[in-house]
Amino acid sequence: MRVAVIGAGVSGLSTAQSIYEQYHSIVSPLTIEVYADRFTPLTTSDGAAGFWQPYLYDKGNVQETKWCKETFDYLLSFLSSPDSIKMGIFLQSGYNLCSEPAPDPSFKDSVLGFRQLTKRELELFPGYCYGWFNTALMVEGKSYLPWLMDWLQKRGVKFYQRKIESFKVLAESGADVIINCTGVRSGDLQPDPDLTPGRGQILKVDAPWLKHWIITHNFTAGTYNSPYIIPGSRSVVVGGCFQLGNWSEQNNSEDHKEIWEGACQLEPSLKHARIVEDWSGLRPVRSKVRLERESMQSGPTTFEVIHNYGHGGFGLTIHRGCAQEAARLLGEILELKGWGPRSRL
Ligand SMILES: Cc1cc2nc3c(=O)[nH]c(=O)nc-3n(C[C@H](O)[C@H](O)[C@H](O)COP(=O)(O)OP(=O)(O)OC[C@H]3O[C@@H](n4cnc5c(N)ncnc54)[C@H](O)[C@@H]3O)c2cc1C
Ligand SMILES: *[C@@H]1O[C@H](CO)[C@@H](O)[C@H](O)[C@H]1NC(C)=O
Ligand SMILES: *[C@@H]1O[C@H](CO)[C@@H](O)[C@H](O)[C@H]1NC(C)=O
Ligand SMILES: *[C@@H]1O[C@H](CO)[C@@H](O)[C@H](O)[C@H]1NC(C)=O
Ligand SMILES: *[C@@H]1O[C@H](CO)[C@@H](O)[C@H](O)[C@H]1NC(C)=O
Repeated sequence: MRVAVIGAGVSGLSTAQSIYEQYHSIVSPLTIEVYADRFTPLTTSDGAAGFWQPYLYDKGNVQETKWCKETFDYLLSFLSSPDSIKMGIFLQSGYNLCSEPAPDPSFKDSVLGFRQLTKRELELFPGYCYGWFNTALMVEGKSYLPWLMDWLQKRGVKFYQRKIESFKVLAESGADVIINCTGVRSGDLQPDPDLTPGRGQILKVDAPWLKHWIITHNFTAGTYNSPYIIPGSRSVVVGGCFQLGNWSEQNNSEDHKEIWEGACQLEPSLKHARIVEDWSGLRPVRSKVRLERESMQSGPTTFEVIHNYGHGGFGLTIHRGCAQEAARLLGEILELKGWGPRSRL
């Protein structure tokens, strides 16, 4: 069984890991290959802050809330290991702030110690009259991706740096199953009108005195189109913007100025922080994550594709739940083809 994963961001690498974990002892031989034109540290998953938090509301898409919670619990389980920091995983608490009362977020039962802000806490943040405090996790791509690649490499997974122009190329070269984890550019391989870039720009600053994340919510401007501050292990991420439909990965000086002014208003001590760098990236925005399998035809050959893309501004937050589900879908294909775990056991 030859599985080809396209994409080496958090979705591709973690899906390869879940597939290895679930099937290496029952399907033999099992060859897993990862194809990507960008590897760490150059993927969107590397640039992201790595803060575990979904959007406030799942809008009835309870499956995504479940995948996010599974990811949280999975990451939490590593905190008892000294390797957690090599993986870029650590606990961090902070504030979600609103300028009007709002229903509790869908993730309130996933995080630790969720509660409403007190009057005294709110006095710390002029302009905000409502919000929540909780402890969440960080999973920093710049550590987590190299850790995942190392984990996979040690288990015989091979990496190939190249752009895949069509699924056919891989099918014709003998891949039985193709896993599509291409993030925002999935549309190059098969048009998907529901997939759009959500351009984000962030500043990384040197401000080691900041210990809590602060996320503001502006329901008029929309998700992540208002100031946020997320301390990481090496620098503090300051954001943000969310520009739907813009494909530019260039830094913009006006966005820079607006982000910086908004953040300094929220946290005045930032005025004494040194700005280290700018980064712009594209969130793979979709009405919901595409996680499904599809049989495709190329001439006389039929091949199976499992899609796992469209994780918007919460790809690190949801990755493990989605990877486990993608691996489960591979199990269905194995069953159908008669190589299934059950037929072997
Ligand atoms: C400013 C910003 C801040 C963010 N902050 C957070 C955060 O704090 N927490 C969080 O959970 N999420 C955050 N996100 C969202 C998160 O970055 C994404 O959801 C996540 O990185 C998507 O991961 P992915 O693996 O699907 O895609 P990517 O990381 O983009 O990886 C895609 C992979 O596919 C490959 N690829 C694509 N097309 C082809 C092709 N045709 N041939 C070969 N290879 C191909 C690429 O080379 C790459 O390896 C943020 C995003 C932005 C922009
Ligand atoms: C692969 O996923 C991308 C989204 O990342 C999508 O646009 C594309 O259509 C998918 N490719 C195929 C062959 O389904
Ligand atoms: C929210 O965003 C809107 C539109 O961008 C803006 O006019 C408004 O001032 C913002 N509200 C707050 C409290 O910042
Ligand atoms: C997209 O973003 C870039 C970089 O910020 C900017 O120069 C460009 O004008 C934007 N394009 C559109 C269509 O908004
Ligand atoms: C954005 O700015 C950083 C430095 O702050 C730079 O390293 C990066 O290359 C810039 N991005 C682009 C696309 O120019």
